[in-house]
Amino acid sequence: MRNSLTVADKPRSGTSLRIDGARLLDRLDRLAEIGGGEDGGVTRMGFSDADQEARAHVARQAAEAGLTATVDAGGNLLIRRPGDHRGSHRPPILVGSHLDTVANGGRLDGAYGVIAALEVLQTLHEAGAETDHEVIAISFANEEGALFPQPFWGSMVFAGRLDALPSEPEDYSGRPLRDALARVGGDLSQLKTATWAPGSLTAYLELHVEQGPVLERLGRSIGVVESITGRIHMSVQINGKAGHAGTTPMEGRQDPLVVAARLIHVVQGLAREEKLCRVATVGRMEVQPNSPNTIPNSVRLDVDLRDSDPARLAAAEQTVRGALAALARLGNVRAVIESTVRSAPVQTDRRIRDAIAASATELGHSQETLPSGAGHDAQIVADLAPVGMIFVPSIDGVSHVPSERTSPEDLVIGAEVLLRTVLKL
Ligand code: GLV
Ligand code: MN
Ligand code: MN
Repeated sequence: MRNSLTVADKPRSGTSLRIDGARLLDRLDRLAEIGGGEDGGVTRMGFSDADQEARAHVARQAAEAGLTATVDAGGNLLIRRPGDHRGSHRPPILVGSHLDTVANGGRLDGAYGVIAALEVLQTLHEAGAETDHEVIAISFANEEGALFPQPFWGSMVFAGRLDALPSEPEDYSGRPLRDALARVGGDLSQLKTATWAPGSLTAYLELHVEQGPVLERLGRSIGVVESITGRIHMSVQINGKAGHAGTTPMEGRQDPLVVAARLIHVVQGLAREEKLCRVATVGRMEVQPNSPNTIPNSVRLDVDLRDSDPARLAAAEQTVRGALAALARLGNVRAVIESTVRSAPVQTDRRIRDAIAASATELGHSQETLPSGAGHDAQIVADLAPVGMIFVPSIDGVSHVPSERTSPEDLVIGAEVLLRTVLKL
């Protein structure tokens, strides 16, 4: 990694390159309107109509800036500078995040990293900067898994983890991903063409809002991420027997919702009381037929476990599995549990962390090294390349909610640090 800047034979030196902060903020505002709700929240679930609109919107902005946007077979949106601006032919530097959101989530989670990556590319392009590496901006498809329950879909395809993906994925209501993917320009039969080999990238950089309270509490502008949490996501299906709420005796009921309620209690307890893993959440549940005077016949729920230690995560997973089996026997229902996501905790690359820290210092911004408690595409891309992440403060530390915010100053600072880090690499 070189510490000198790589802009050669140009009137402007790399250090003088600056992000257009007003344009960055304006683009974030415009993007937030796509899927935007009255309460300020954004619903742009992966492969939904709103997601499709956002992807087209960003691709259009890239084209207007003289950049080229393409979609790979996995549905990832890649933005490049036309022609060859490289001083050498080392593997590319990839910069990005995701455009999809959770249901009624925030305007910045993912979107910020994609728009900032576009700004970095456009800034380099407008300056006619020659870089040692090609710089590519990316928006990974379906990072959240809010509609199609395969979070990290795009980055898993990109990293070649095809065996870990279902062959015919469906959304929560059974609609095929194959069709949704084709609508955005992807192709489920050609996923292999979208995979990148280990060593084919020099680095992946992701700029993101912290989504937690640390930077704000410490009064720092920039977070240098040192690790990203591990995560196990489990899908639980519990089937019982429907019946009339007024006439079916309490004795002998086979009520899957009662079993689900007990399981949710266990999930909370294994993080809160037993401290088997850092956090544990049930955030989604579907009850059938969901009628106030009918005993349900089926419940589907999702369990999300996080920890930085894979052994602790595995222990927590076994606890959930064991508890479900016991509760199902007790409640006389059938239960099936499947682990749909297993992402190992990862360390970011030390040299990239140093480059981020040096960039922040050179630009006069305070910084803190911290772990990420949220999941990010970076942890999947880490399979094939050194990764680094830059955080900016989240106001009140909140995310995945409509009130997710970061100050405009910090948003611009983060993008400046991203640009400088790219140049340093
Ligand atoms: C990704 O947003 C996560 O759930 O951490
Ligand atoms: Mn998120
Ligand atoms: Mn995110």
